[in-house]
Amino acid sequence: MSEQDEFCNRGELFEALDDVPQNPEIAETIGDVINRRYHRRDVVRGMLGVAAISATIGPLTLAPGEAAAAEDRFPFRELNSGVDETHHVAEGYEAQVLLRWGDPVFADAPEFDPYRQSAKAQLRQFGYNNDFVGFIPLEGRDDRGLLCVNHEYTNEEVMFPKIGRQDNSKKDYSKDGAGGKDDPNPEFSAMTQVLAEVEMAAHGGTVIEIRRYGRIWKPVLTSAYNRRISALETEMTIDGPAAGNERMQTNADPSGRKVIGTINNCAGGITAWGTYLLAEENFRFYFWSDARVKDKEVCSGKATDSARRYGIGNRYYAWGKFTKDANLRRFNLEAEPNEPNRFGWIVEVDPMDPSSTPVKHTALGRFCHEGAESIVNKDGRVVLYSGDDTRFEYVYKFVSAGTFDPENREANKSLLSEGTLYVAKFESDGTAKWLPLVHGQGPLTKENGFDSQADVLIDARLAADRLGATCMDRPEDVQPNPKTGKVYVMLTNNKKRKDDDKDAANPRAKNLFGHIIEMTPPDGDHAATEFRWDILVQCGDPSDPKVEAKWHPDTSADGWFASPDNCAIDGEGRLWVSTDQGGNWPKTQKADGLYAVETDGAQRGRSKLFFRCPIGAELCGPYFTPDQQTLFVAVQHPGTDGTKSYERFGRASTFEDPATRWPDFDPDMPPRPSVIAITRKDGGKI
Ligand code: FEO
Ligand code: CA
Ligand code: CA
Ligand code: CA
Repeated sequence: MSEQDEFCNRGELFEALDDVPQNPEIAETIGDVINRRYHRRDVVRGMLGVAAISATIGPLTLAPGEAAAAEDRFPFRELNSGVDETHHVAEGYEAQVLLRWGDPVFADAPEFDPYRQSAKAQLRQFGYNNDFVGFIPLEGRDDRGLLCVNHEYTNEEVMFPKIGRQDNSKKDYSKDGAGGKDDPNPEFSAMTQVLAEVEMAAHGGTVIEIRRYGRIWKPVLTSAYNRRISALETEMTIDGPAAGNERMQTNADPSGRKVIGTINNCAGGITAWGTYLLAEENFRFYFWSDARVKDKEVCSGKATDSARRYGIGNRYYAWGKFTKDANLRRFNLEAEPNEPNRFGWIVEVDPMDPSSTPVKHTALGRFCHEGAESIVNKDGRVVLYSGDDTRFEYVYKFVSAGTFDPENREANKSLLSEGTLYVAKFESDGTAKWLPLVHGQGPLTKENGFDSQADVLIDARLAADRLGATCMDRPEDVQPNPKTGKVYVMLTNNKKRKDDDKDAANPRAKNLFGHIIEMTPPDGDHAATEFRWDILVQCGDPSDPKVEAKWHPDTSADGWFASPDNCAIDGEGRLWVSTDQGGNWPKTQKADGLYAVETDGAQRGRSKLFFRCPIGAELCGPYFTPDQQTLFVAVQHPGTDGTKSYERFGRASTFEDPATRWPDFDPDMPPRPSVIAITRKDGGKI
């Protein structure tokens, strides 16, 4: 068993499990795809091609005399890489802890007491594991706005007293989908319904008004905009082609159009019309099964194929164990087999109206959505990119049927209700196609198990398999750059890729460190069905030839990184990448952090370290205010990942005994996931 298979917490477990649901049919599909692409493309071309490309870049072409200034578009002094108990930011910048798990979101919120948690209190407080961060200016101001933050998941071991260490190292999760009947998991014996409900309240999202006073940001607890969205009690509507379908119907909702809550909200997006999108990522971990789907047909026929393909039916979160209460029982697969079909979507929230009902848009497909970054195309249609973050899964985009109307915000709120979902197929010659997931077209027919467009969307993975989409190395954030028209795909890693699975777009076997693909739509047309692509960087240590890393040679020993996850484009069109190595950080001896990556010109492929996390955390966000004077980042699950390998600690963290108590460093306080506001000490742009 390799080091990274010895999980010591929820996050590491997730990381290790993300390849479980490969079904036999897919293996064939991978083989077919690879056979079509045996001509491996020399990735170095991506680097050598730069000189030619940089001459024609257009928006970034330099005026004469600007050459010297253009040498480094990120003129900060790089931070030293490393691992310790706290966060660090580049010299000349300040990182302020803005919102911590348990901080009040409302003026009447109870004071945070980690020893006496309740769902009622948590629903008035900032949730757990902050991930996506968005900022929506109020009155067009840069110093006043709504911060929209996702709360992805919960780490019971450091969240609740007396849960104990989670030592899952003896279990082979890749085989049995976790904790079979005879495999009692200590975390579940300690979990109670009260704690399960706290977890449900700690999931979801927060909308909170914040204001800047000088350089200090503060939450406005009395703001009427403030809102908590949770898995416990936020009612949502379901729209689009799968709404109302019989596979969406449950005992609590015979209409198939209403659902309580959202889960595993990883990254997301802010739309051009100022709504907040939450991407439901690893939804499959929440549906408790007394029987394992693999061994016993808890569903039948189509439902079983689907459950297997998505890895539904296991024992990770204990919510579905508490079957007396219908709101928890729905997470029990045997009791409510259709409930998983109501998760795995993109959720749209109107933060300007705290009483509005969030909408799950089924037109965007059901998979482990990492993010939901959109752009208004030049023809006015909205194009939304989203990766399916599991090993060998796909990159998708959605093109709206309607067009964006800057004068009609209400109408824009239905743009994500109707349109076409596509999946990417990368060719070895640097071209690629977007294949439409449309019922009745190609193999997406009744004969192949797709009775309607609802089936195509609920089983988007099965549909994409049929189309022969390219199996990627865990697609995370997919980010369009409005300045250049290019799109960046973070591919975080894939240790399961074998030599004969390699292809041009996923060129390394046992890809532990990930890479970034740059997609170029023709003439900046994001709705086009073809694009060109290139590899921007291959991550990992460039000084070790075995790693086959590719960076601009000016990238320092501090500047290279592994496992790109989230990213942002700032107002100048510069790319910033945050990392999530999970339990793999001991392989790089670098904490996760934020890196500035040059995409254009002579420095293309150069990376510099700007911010780094405390031990065991991954970095999420990032997001800039429009004036670019503030950068928000989210430090997620501090003190958890890989702490057994941290020599100053050397064991798994618990609530009582964590590897760090960041950010409070108070002996009575566990580590707390927190959002950080970074500003320049001299008040300028980041
Ligand atoms: Fe929630 Fe793919 O990171
Ligand atoms: Ca992440
Ligand atoms: Ca990740
Ligand atoms: Ca992003």
